[in-house]
This record gives sequence, C-alpha cells and structure tokens, in this order.
Amino acid sequence: VLADYGISPRHGFLPDVLPLTRLPDPYYNKWEAIVANLQGLILSRRLRGVIDRLPVLSTVGLEHEAEWRRAYMLLCFMAHGYIWGGDSPSDRLPPPIAVPLIQVSKHLELPPVATYAAVCLWNFKPLFMDEEIDNLENLSTLTTFTGALDESWFYLVSVAMEARGAPIIPLMLTAIAAAREGDSHAVTRCLHTFAERLDDLGTLLQRMHENCDPHIFYHRIRPFLAGSKNMAEAGLPHGVRYEDGSGNEPYRQYAGGSNAQSSLIQFFDIVLGIEHRPTGEKRGPANDHRDGRAPPPKHNFIEEMRQYMPGPHARFLRDVQAVANIRGFVESRPHDRQLCVAYDACLAMLRALRDKHIAIVTRYIVMPSREVRARSRSPEATRGNAPATRGRLNLATASRRPFQPAGIAFGASDAEAVVKKGVNLKGTGGTALISFLKQARDETGEPAVEEW
Ligand code: HEM
Ligand code: ALA
Repeated sequence: VLADYGISPRHGFLPDVLPLTRLPDPYYNKWEAIVANLQGLILSRRLRGVIDRLPVLSTVGLEHEAEWRRAYMLLCFMAHGYIWGGDSPSDRLPPPIAVPLIQVSKHLELPPVATYAAVCLWNFKPLFMDEEIDNLENLSTLTTFTGALDESWFYLVSVAMEARGAPIIPLMLTAIAAAREGDSHAVTRCLHTFAERLDDLGTLLQRMHENCDPHIFYHRIRPFLAGSKNMAEAGLPHGVRYEDGSGNEPYRQYAGGSNAQSSLIQFFDIVLGIEHRPTGEKRGPANDHRDGRAPPPKHNFIEEMRQYMPGPHARFLRDVQAVANIRGFVESRPHDRQLCVAYDACLAMLRALRDKHIAIVTRYIVMPSREVRARSRSPEATRGNAPATRGRLNLATASRRPFQPAGIAFGASDAEAVVKKGVNLKGTGGTALISFLKQARDETGEPAVEEW
C-alpha cells in the first residue's frame, strides 16, 4: 500500500531508491555541468549568462522516477540561483529553465519552485552505503547554492529527521487498524513508541545548532530559498515570468521553500487528530458561524503547503485523514489511563518539538533581522544624505549578496522606511513567523483528552 503513495517502508517520504548523483543520459550533461559549478557561477555572477545561452532541453530522455526527481532538483537549484543570484532579483526565468521545469514539475505534481522535496528529500546521499541514513554523520548533500557546510547541515538535519521518523508511518497505520478493532493495548503500545521517536526527533532538530551558523543561514542561505509570492519588498512585485518563448507569459507567484512542506510532520498531526486552523483563528464560539452565513474563506497555510508536496505524498495525507481515528478512540475511553497517558505523551512531545523549532526560528531569523535593523538605525546608516551604496554596505555582511526575502532592508533609505513602519518579517513560506508557529504549537497541545 505504502508503495502506491511513493512511500518507502525504510525511508518514509525519502525515496526508496537513493537520489541519483547524476542523470545517466549524457544529453543532460549541460545541466549537470552548471549545477556542479553552481556556487562558482553564482559568486562570479556568470550563472544568468550561462543559463541564457543554454539550449532548451527536452524531457523525453527522462525515464525512471529517480531521473525526473534529479531533473527537478537540478532545475530548481538553477532557477533559484538565477532569480536570487544577481545584484537584484530577476523577475523572469528564461526558456532553458522555465520550459523543462514546468514539464518536470507537472510530472511530479509539484509547483515549479524549490520545494522541500527539491532541496531536502531528493538532495542527499549516504557517505557509507552500508550505514543508515537516519544518522547525520552518514549524510551529505548533492547540491547547495553556497557550498557552505552550514547550508548542507540545514538540509541534512531534515533528511535525518525524515529517515528517523520513517518507521512511525507504518507504526501509526497499525495503530489506526488496531483502534478500528478496539485493541486498546496495541494502540497504547504504538503511541508509546511514537512518543519515544518524537523525542528522538527533537534531539535531532536541536543538532541544527552544531553546524549551521545563524548569520550564514540568514544572510547567505535563506535568500535563495525565497519564493515569488508576496515578495514586493524583496524586488519581485509581480512574481516571476516563466518564459516559454511566446512573449506573453503571465507572472506566477509561488511560496518559497519551507519545512511546512514536510509530509512527515503533517502526518503526525493528522494521525493524532490535531487540527490546525487558519492563522489568527481561535477555537470556540467566536468562530462558529451559526447565523447561516458561510464563513469567509480563510487562508490555511499548513493545508496549502500540501500542494507543495509530491502528488502521491499529498494524496497519502488526504487518505490518512479520512481514516484517522486515534483521537476519537482515546476520547471514547477516558478511563483507560494507560491509553490516555500514551496519547498525551505524543502531544507533549510534538509540542516540545514545536517549542524547539520556535527557539530555532528566533535565533536564526528574528535575532539576525533585529541586528540588521539596529545597524540601519545607527548614525552611520541614517545620516540624511548618505549615498545608497553606503547604506547597503553598512547593512550587508557582504556587498555582493542576493536580496533578502520580504521585509528586509537593502539601502539606507529603504532601511529607514522599514524601521519606521516596523519590519514586516515573513518566513520563506510567507507566514508571519512566530505568531503562526506559536499558534501551530498551541493547537498541538489542545486536545488534552482526559483530566484526572
Ligand atoms: C515552518 C523556519 C528548520 C519544521 C517554519 C516557518 C519558518 C521556519 C519561518 C514558518 C513557515 C514559513 O513561512 O516559512 C525554520 C528555520 C529552520 C527550520 C529558520 C532552521 C534554521 C526546520 C526543521 C524542521 C522544521 C529542521 C523539521 C522538522 C517546520 C514545520 C513547519 C515549519 C513542520 C510548519 C509549522 C508547524 O507545523 O509547526 N520553519 N525552520 N523546520 N518548520 Fe521550520
Ligand atoms: N522557512 C524558513 C525561513 O523562513 C526556511 O527561513
């Protein structure tokens, strides 16, 4: 059954067949050569020229799914390098990237942007084939924008978590079946193991701090992960035109890469019956629409992110949602103490995971953005007639670096404007960061089944 959804019994949402390190057909050598030199081409500002001169390659040479995945990953890295790897962002993607990227994305049922699938799920290799991939010490990335160890580590922590979390998928499908049969002991056992694994995942998440430096993340890595939606402040007011040569392509807008696109974490929520509401919406009567009027459609970011998962994975989540029964089962047995304790332990562990994540976001995004703001307020940057370039040098850790996603200032005058109206800090996915994440965390604790 799992295989029907592109899920590996061993690796979960990571592919069962390891990601290819190169497309076998030499026809694609040009793509491979560019990505092999991606960091150098970005640093020397030559990537755009090289891509503009590429021929538009056909996708007919792609055979196995692993090849389609490799092609997607290559094209996404090239696309984001193209958009964000210049002195100002490009609001166009030329046909050599746009045409095949749209075709490959369609095949994989993904949007044509650097998703979690492109940079994490399909971008790793084990260092030693005979060792497990749930061990960070046995992982390496295939491609990065910067060549920085910090960037590899940022992706690999997620890869290791996906691998370590993989056994939870069959485990909790067993639990669903056991609940259907009324086997409370079996459900309790599964929940126990689940809680232990979640604790493990929290430990892995904390390892982000070991090798990913917050400044490098914020200033060098993160800008490349930005999308094209709500990116006016970063220099993409309309989005990006994916050129097909016709000359009248519309602008498109996509959210940037985010771990909210991880099917694993959403699977946890679904299986535990945790409900995430649209941001800003509280549980309770205030949001009950009993007056017969349809509630206004609300934006539910977590649900929207399923469109940024590979098609089969998104379908898996939908189908699991239709049969998820654990929470109801636990609620129907409030006196089964062991069961309730095990269930609550899972909630507590998942909540703890989200707490650790909020601490990470504070250290990796909120703090560095405050530093930028503080620097832009210093007399040097705010001196009335300071030339724009001066402000930029003052703000940036390096003058030649990609633009920041929405809300981050570039020149002295921009900086002042942003400081005055308060920085409108956004995640690469487009959420209001901390308030969004805190709500997701609070919703994780909510069901609290039984009080004694
Ligand atoms: C969402 C930042 C690493 C899991 C988010 C969001 C931000 C963020 C800003 C909000 C969505 C958006 O607008 O993009 C970070 C940073 C990280 C990091 C700065 C490391 C430096 C991770 C890792 C995981 C993870 C390793 C692995 C589990 C999630 C999940 C969400 C999310 C599941 C969706 C919200 C939720 O379900 O609570 N992250 N993240 N993040 N992140 Fe991370
Ligand atoms: N979603 C993460 C961010 O906003 C990567 O930086």
